[in-house]
Amino acid sequence: MAILVLGGAGYIGSHTVYELIDAGKDVVIADNLETGHIEAVHPKAKFYQGDIRDRAFVDSVFEAEQIDGVIHFAANSLVGESMTDPLKYYDNNLCGTKVLLESMVAHGIDKIVFSSTAATYGEPERVPILETDRTEPTNCYGETKLSMEKMFKWTSVAHGLHFVSLRYFNACGAHVSGSIGEAHKPETHLIPLILQVPNGQREFISIFGDDYDTKDGTCIRDYIHVTDLAQAHILAMDYLMNGGENNIFNLGNGVGFTVKEVIDTAREVTGHPIPAKVTPRRAGDPAQLIASSDKARSVLGWNPQHADLKEIIETAWNWHKNHPNGFAK
Ligand code: UFG
Repeated sequence: MAILVLGGAGYIGSHTVYELIDAGKDVVIADNLETGHIEAVHPKAKFYQGDIRDRAFVDSVFEAEQIDGVIHFAANSLVGESMTDPLKYYDNNLCGTKVLLESMVAHGIDKIVFSSTAATYGEPERVPILETDRTEPTNCYGETKLSMEKMFKWTSVAHGLHFVSLRYFNACGAHVSGSIGEAHKPETHLIPLILQVPNGQREFISIFGDDYDTKDGTCIRDYIHVTDLAQAHILAMDYLMNGGENNIFNLGNGVGFTVKEVIDTAREVTGHPIPAKVTPRRAGDPAQLIASSDKARSVLGWNPQHADLKEIIETAWNWHKNHPNGFAK
């Protein structure tokens, strides 16, 4: 009996596969390799290349393998792109999940752990954000993830699906072994962009606005190590296997850092001056996003092990300095 990881060649998916295999689980991966990397696939996992929008492909995996539960990362996840090409997000994220759920129902597979996002909240009504707070996404990416959560809910009502949705805050860092890490093209995330400066790939980092109502005027985010996120997926799957009810959990450290603080920590880690320039705000950025993860801690027993920002950036730097072009040779 195995866990099927959809999108297991991507950033958070590949780290989750590494943790599942370390925990002694059998893992099957399906990934279309559109944004994932074959090099990120764990050698002990069984790999199928294909797309979740392809019903015949999804059926063939469920027919070939004994799947106990599904962990679903297969989605597009760039906020900016979702605003210029929303239908791509509806197609992959929503239509793909619809096909997946049809196939799961047809094959009697009734457990899914889902990769959701803080972007489901939009502009928060307060911080730290609770799972019960208002969800009003300000971008199409967050909207599709919220709609996916609702698809699980109604599929649960009609067909008895059991689901856990994990709303991540800012995923970052890399596997402590240095063997896998973050490799997006184009890269849009703050920490990998900062580290391109000491890597000689960028002259300076842009600070998107310093006139926010925060302590130093720059945006505050809750940075959470990718391996801690990975652990939460294992706990969530165990929770469902033990009969846990449908649930939604925030995943963050509950501590916010400003953009300037992140840049300062990267300077300390790399020993590089990392020049920074203030540029205009990026559209749609909330001033502050900080998670309350008390529920994940109390219900799932989740306990992040890499909460220190310096340690997070050290693991990221260890990956990026040795893989300046990601997985490309
Ligand atoms: N930032 C800069 N300069 C850069 C890049 C980012 O100042 O060159 C700032 C952003 O304005 C933001 C912070 O750094 O304030 C973090 O930006 P990221 O792009 O790294 O992350 P986001 O907070 O925008 O997005 C993350 C996830 C999304 C998710 C979102 C939830 O990457 O998938 O949180 O709001 F949707």
